[in-house]
This record gives sequence, C-alpha cells and structure tokens, in this order.
Amino acid sequence: MNPAKRRTVIAGNWKMNFTPAEATAFINEIKPMVAGKDNCDIIFCAPFVSIAAAMEAAKGSNIVIGAENVHYEAKGAYTGEISADMLKAIGVNTVLVGHSERRQYFGETDETVNLRTKAALAAGMRVILCMGEVKEQRLAGITNEVCAMQIKLDLAGISAEDMKNVIIAYEPVWAIGTGLTATPEQAEDACAVIRATIAELYGNEVAEATTIQYGGSMNDANAAELLSKPNVDGGLIGGASLVAKKFTAIVDAAQ
Ligand code: PGA
Repeated sequence: MNPAKRRTVIAGNWKMNFTPAEATAFINEIKPMVAGKDNCDIIFCAPFVSIAAAMEAAKGSNIVIGAENVHYEAKGAYTGEISADMLKAIGVNTVLVGHSERRQYFGETDETVNLRTKAALAAGMRVILCMGEVKEQRLAGITNEVCAMQIKLDLAGISAEDMKNVIIAYEPVWAIGTGLTATPEQAEDACAVIRATIAELYGNEVAEATTIQYGGSMNDANAAELLSKPNVDGGLIGGASLVAKKFTAIVDAAQ
C-alpha cells in the first residue's frame, strides 16, 4: 500500500452467494465491526437480486455495495444481462468487470471486458477491472507479458481522465478459490508490472494514482503481508468475504 499516493480498497466478491435475506443479515453483522475503519474503502459486490437488500442494510455506514457485472449495451435483446443505467437507477456506482470466472465459464474476452468497462465508465461508475494469468502462463514464465497485454487490451480507448474511476484487481487465476495464494513477492512483482504498463499508456501520474488490488485466496492470515507490499493497494476477496470475522481482519490489516 502507498496511502500517500492512492486509496486502499478492500472489496468482497460474493459471487453466487447470499439471498437478499442473507445479504441483509451479513451486512447487519459486519456493519458495526468495520465502523470507523476509514483508512480503506470497503465494498461488497453482490448478486443482482441481493443488491437492493444489501444497500438498504448498509445505509449510513462506510460500506459500499456494488454489482458483479454490467452489460455494454444500454438496453435491448440481451437476455439475462443488466445495463449500467439499470444499476445506476437503483443507486449502484461500483461494478466488477472481467472476473476470471466470467472469462472462464461465460465466454468473456478482453474485447467484451473492454466494452463493459467503457460502458460503466460512460455511465459514471467506478470499475474494478479483474485480470491475471492462468497457471500454464505462469509456469511458462510469461506472467509479465500476459499482464501487460491484458491491461493494454482491457483499457484500450479509455482516457486518462476515466482512469480515476478504474481500480485494477490483479488476480492470478490459479490462486482464485484454490487456497493457493500468490506469495507477497509474486503479487508485488505482477502489480508493479501492471503499474508500469499503466505508466506506459497514461504516464506516471496516472499510474501512481491507480489502485491495484491483489485477489486470489486472500484471507485473514495472509492479508497483512500482501498489503505491506508497496504496489498492492488492497484486496478483492471471494471466500473470506462471506465470513464477517475474516473480512474484518482483512480490513484491519489495511488500517
Ligand atoms: P477467493 O476469490 O478469495 O475465493 O480466491 C477471489 C476472487 O475471485 O475475486
């Protein structure tokens, strides 16, 4: 973390977990536990149907509720999709884009990730853009190249001004939901490559101001060490975001 230069962001990704009632109960439980812990932004990205309930429970707290995806068209024949305007209409201003599960299981590509990111930014939303290498790429020694390429493709056509609303989540795919965490050094190295690529595209000032999170089995036990790295500005947390005590410990590690 480098709090002098950029905001630390601890975000939960609930994935396909929590009904509206469960989301309400969870937010009510964690709200007092994270109250006043203002050295980082605290976000939970919720399944579409549970967003309203989570937002209602989070009212007046330091918790922000976001969505897990957004479509790039404003409206039309896109069965099962949700537009940025629809999210905005219920008060959602933060959205995940390009999560590896979307890329792995639902055919998302760098091109659709780029389109979704642009649509969300055009609607004035803040985007958490997820990217990272798969296991074969790490084993082949091309992690840096893969990260640089994804950043360039996913951010194509996005302005320096819009980068104020972009958070990058570096998530090595082999570490997501597997209990295998990148070492703090691996996380730092990749986040540094991502920052250097952003500098190449937008200059140093934008690169230094961009929050880059690490994601992939971050938990209460490993968060402090990962967050101590200068280029790791927060976390995107799956499994541990479903357990109030574990998530709060990660928030504490960021204080
Ligand atoms: P995990 O998920 O923390 O369960 O590995 C991270 C993510 O998918 O964002």
